[in-house]
Amino acid sequence: MQSIPLILEVRPINHSSSLKDNDPLPKKDQSVLHIWGRASLSGQVKISGAKNSALAIMAGALLCPQDCRLHNVPSLVDIEKMSQILSALGVKLQKNGDILDINARHLGHSTAPYELVSQLRASFFAIGPLLARLGAVRIPLPGGCAIGARPVDLHVRGLQSMGAQVHIEHGMVNAYISGSGNKRLKGAKIYLDYPSVGATETLMMAATLAEGETTIENAAQEPEVADLANFCRAMGAKIRGAGTNTIIISGVPSLHSVEYSVIPDRIEAGTFLVAGAITHSEITLAPVIPDHLSAVIAKLQEIGSKVIMEGTNRLRIVPDRIQATDIETLPFPGFPTDMQAPLMALLTLSEGDSVITETVFENRLGHVPELNRMGADIRIKGNNAIIRGVPMLSGAPVMATDLRASAALILAGLAAEGKTTIKGLHHLDRGYENVEEKLRKLGAKLKREKEEHEPEAEETSTAQSKITVTP
Ligand code: UD1
Repeated sequence: MQSIPLILEVRPINHSSSLKDNDPLPKKDQSVLHIWGRASLSGQVKISGAKNSALAIMAGALLCPQDCRLHNVPSLVDIEKMSQILSALGVKLQKNGDILDINARHLGHSTAPYELVSQLRASFFAIGPLLARLGAVRIPLPGGCAIGARPVDLHVRGLQSMGAQVHIEHGMVNAYISGSGNKRLKGAKIYLDYPSVGATETLMMAATLAEGETTIENAAQEPEVADLANFCRAMGAKIRGAGTNTIIISGVPSLHSVEYSVIPDRIEAGTFLVAGAITHSEITLAPVIPDHLSAVIAKLQEIGSKVIMEGTNRLRIVPDRIQATDIETLPFPGFPTDMQAPLMALLTLSEGDSVITETVFENRLGHVPELNRMGADIRIKGNNAIIRGVPMLSGAPVMATDLRASAALILAGLAAEGKTTIKGLHHLDRGYENVEEKLRKLGAKLKREKEEHEPEAEETSTAQSKITVTP
């Protein structure tokens, strides 16, 4: 096995916005969010760029030795972490508002730093472009939300079929292309056992610079995969079929400079649609790509709200009754797992019984005991949540257990009688840009403040339930 340089230091990142040189990673936020419920909302909310697209596209920028300018990049903790990881690899980054300039000409290192990668699953997706550019990479097994085991076997097997040697030792994935001379991956026919978003993105990026043609069958069809493919195509990659279940990539020797705008965040948009439905408020959202929200819109309409398309990129929610319905999470174009928790918050107030089945992740119901603390009636049976609608929720102290759970608790808090206090806001800050300000502008009453008393130990939750919080 060839030797690969090991790096331990993290270079400072040049950000002109929120992240300053030598800033340590943002600490887990010990502050709490108070929400005084039952305010009615109105007006328009601006939807930010898609977190998951932006993260994958930042990894994609590693494929290119020239300038990449990205527009519509949200300011989020996950984006800052990804920036720090790229910076540690030698990449130059500059963020100005929603514009992110990336230049990966000098990739000084092929080892990504453990302490950063272990906090952000999406950074593992850099294994594909790094291997394609450098011929060798060492990257720690990833972290992410505490929503399941989330293995990387599909990424690894796909890279192996493209000729890479991959070994996992001591929590590190070592991948390299053996042989001498110009090391390129080889085009291959890959069938994914499951349409994993991350594996599709990793392999698609790796294949852009491979020798020959790669076909990914049973590929993920999520809009973020198509967005990454469009970004790569704008750099000169030859990709067909992204957004369908078969993606064909003809490898090219190199990619060139690009300016590209990230798509709007469909999960943030879906969360605000639910905010309208749960508070019985009419609100509009823009910009959105309605086709990315088809399953969510269909369910909201089944539940009783009207979702009206105004022009090509604006949606208005006109709420009405909240009727019970059943939901099963599925890969796109099915109902997104990232909207499961927000929809559950809404269904707690429905007329009748609903069942939500989580099929994508095995451990994504952490919000259930917290919603029950607010007066919801939800039982868990395996991966099903059985929700008996109640007429009213009441504010309570609650703990966010992951990113989308935090959104669900905010939604429940907006609808509840009295004051809800949410802890675990570091989850929220990973994925919702300026959510408090956006809600306040719509008329919500909420305030973030430092905890008045000593923060509790990390593994303890609110008074009754004990929940393990992992990043
Ligand atoms: C991405 C999104 C996340 C979303 C998820 C599903 C990012 C940064 N995150 O996560 O918000 O909830 O898609 O839409 O884009 N799996 C394997 N082996 C693998 C890879 C995945 O078994 O090699 C399993 C996972 O454990 C999970 C399922 O496949 O049960 C789906 O995971 P995947 O689609 O890969 O999600 P992510 O890309 O991690």
